[in-house]
Amino acid sequence: MCREVEMQNRQGGTSGGSRSIRSTGPTDRDWITQFLYDRWAADFVVVHGEVIKPADLPALTCGQGEGLATYRLLGEDAELVTLDAIPAGLGIGTALVEALAATLIGLGCKRLWLTTTNDKLSALRFYLRRGFRLIHIRLGAVDEARRFKPGIPTIGELGIPIHDELDLCRLLDDRPQNNGALPPWATPTQ
Ligand SMILES: CC(C)(COP(=O)(O)OP(=O)(O)OC[C@H]1O[C@@H](n2cnc3c(N)ncnc32)[C@H](O)[C@@H]1OP(=O)(O)O)[C@@H](O)C(=O)NCCC(=O)NCCS
Repeated sequence: MCREVEMQNRQGGTSGGSRSIRSTGPTDRDWITQFLYDRWAADFVVVHGEVIKPADLPALTCGQGEGLATYRLLGEDAELVTLDAIPAGLGIGTALVEALAATLIGLGCKRLWLTTTNDKLSALRFYLRRGFRLIHIRLGAVDEARRFKPGIPTIGELGIPIHDELDLCRLLDDRPQNNGALPPWATPTQ
């Protein structure tokens, strides 16, 4: 049974209106599967050496499927696996990130992680202005991921060749011992 969470988020957005964010449930699965396929050209993503099916994960959605944030819980950490807003630039992404942070804080999570790629300068700007910091870079990780998902483009935003993964983290708990944490998927040698 899905836990319905209605959150009125008034942060961000040029429309200035409130946004209705809710947790998704089993009845959302069909449109989420199609939505993710349309956005990511497959029903799976390959990231930090893992193959993840985001449609299987808990998620928050905005309005009538105008945005989707899929995530997973990893102990005291959480990972934002996909974030998409349609249309972009109207505050949907911000509303989803803030609602997700509030949800995770309520669950006792201490850190929200995500991985993006070296070409996504607009997403990097988006995250860095919303409390995330760049923690870790995996050189060549996307080149490696292409072995599992050959459809991953080689050229991305602004014509930038896509090679590397960037891990970003937003602290959900400002206690000092959270500083210096590595992503849950990092090994000591990375
Ligand atoms: C990145 C994304 C989720 C941001 O959500 P959004 O609803 O467009 O963002 P908001 O309207 O809440 O905030 C606007 C901010 O996002 C930035 N932004 C990032 N990508 C943008 C885009 N494609 N169009 C417009 N603004 C974008 C703007 O520069 C703006 O930054 P600022 O507020 O710091 O000036 C969304 O643009 C998107 O779905 N992009 C494509 C998928 C993607 O790259 N996902 C992230 C993968 S790691």
